[in-house]
Amino acid sequence: MKILAFETTCDETSAAVLEGRVLRSNAVFSQIRLHRRYSGVVPELASRAHLEKIPFVLKGALGAAGCRLPLRAGAFDAVAFSRGPGLPGALMVGRVAAEAAAGLARAPLIGVSHLEGHLLACEFEGAKASRPLEFPLLALLVSGGHTELWHARGYGDYRVLGRTRDDAAGEAFDKVAKLLGLPYPGGPSVEKAAARARGEGPGFPRPHMEGTWDFSFSGLKTAVSYYLAGRLGQDFYKRALRLPPAEAALVCRGFQDAVAETLVKKTAAAARKLGLRRIAVGGGVSANGALRRAFGALEGLEVRFSEKAYCSDNAAMVALCALRRLEAGKFANSVKVSPELDRPGWAI
Ligand code: KG4
Ligand code: ZN
Repeated sequence: MKILAFETTCDETSAAVLEGRVLRSNAVFSQIRLHRRYSGVVPELASRAHLEKIPFVLKGALGAAGCRLPLRAGAFDAVAFSRGPGLPGALMVGRVAAEAAAGLARAPLIGVSHLEGHLLACEFEGAKASRPLEFPLLALLVSGGHTELWHARGYGDYRVLGRTRDDAAGEAFDKVAKLLGLPYPGGPSVEKAAARARGEGPGFPRPHMEGTWDFSFSGLKTAVSYYLAGRLGQDFYKRALRLPPAEAALVCRGFQDAVAETLVKKTAAAARKLGLRRIAVGGGVSANGALRRAFGALEGLEVRFSEKAYCSDNAAMVALCALRRLEAGKFANSVKVSPELDRPGWAI
């Protein structure tokens, strides 16, 4: 089974070729440099950059996989794309590219959930999808736009238990980095600064939200903002006032620990409540070392992460979702996702 896949939900343009369980190529163009001066992703710029880069990314992926151009009928068994969630204009670029490729290859088109991709990314070991997930499990998906807890009973069989009511975990990292004057994307910047902290940092609140599996991170971000206003004055942001690096490092440490503890406690509590022994964590924020260590310290629960190379957005994970669908004999020749995932905001 040979699959060509596209990923264009946010600020990475990616195309991949998966043959059986072997990843033949996974070309990724990151738009980070384009968005850095705005400290966040600018949707219109992202769409334009996807449009500009996708031919090169596709050519790169096909070339690295030894595929011939132009695409011929039968070149692929399926063409997949991330159908959402993501930025509407950006999603459209991946979808149109996939439709064109599917037309040339006379292959079925499969639209998959980007978040399912982050979950299945845990199966890659180097260039092979050789570590199949064992179900049932609890999935924590933490990216720039989403923080979700899923009860996963099998491939394509997911129940959303909770999600963020405001900022996603990655978004909180990005916004706190912006408040501190650290470069975009905020997650890696905050993690790097936190590693230099000499001490534990301020004890920011842990937003636990009792009685629900939902999350909320905007209060934590506001707490960091109040802390900075207390230290530097109310108009610190307007005047671009910065903490000395040693103190900024402590703030990063305090913030990062609060996010990690919140995610780990709620996820572990949900797993225990549902009687699940296995947890899988995916998405850009799952690259965070403090989060990985906090999960690693849990007793009696088996926690899996994707390899760091597959934490951020990539088309390899999209291809793998399509492969699992085809193997299950589901959804071939159609653009569908599990009804539980097919909620407003996901479709394009
Ligand atoms: O999954 P992803 O690559 O794109 C989306 O689907 O949004 O996630 C991007 C998010 C960004 O908010 C970024 O700051 C965060 O993941 N991130 C991290 C780390 N690396 C990326 N957050 C915390 N620690 C990291 N090391
Ligand atoms: Zn993502």
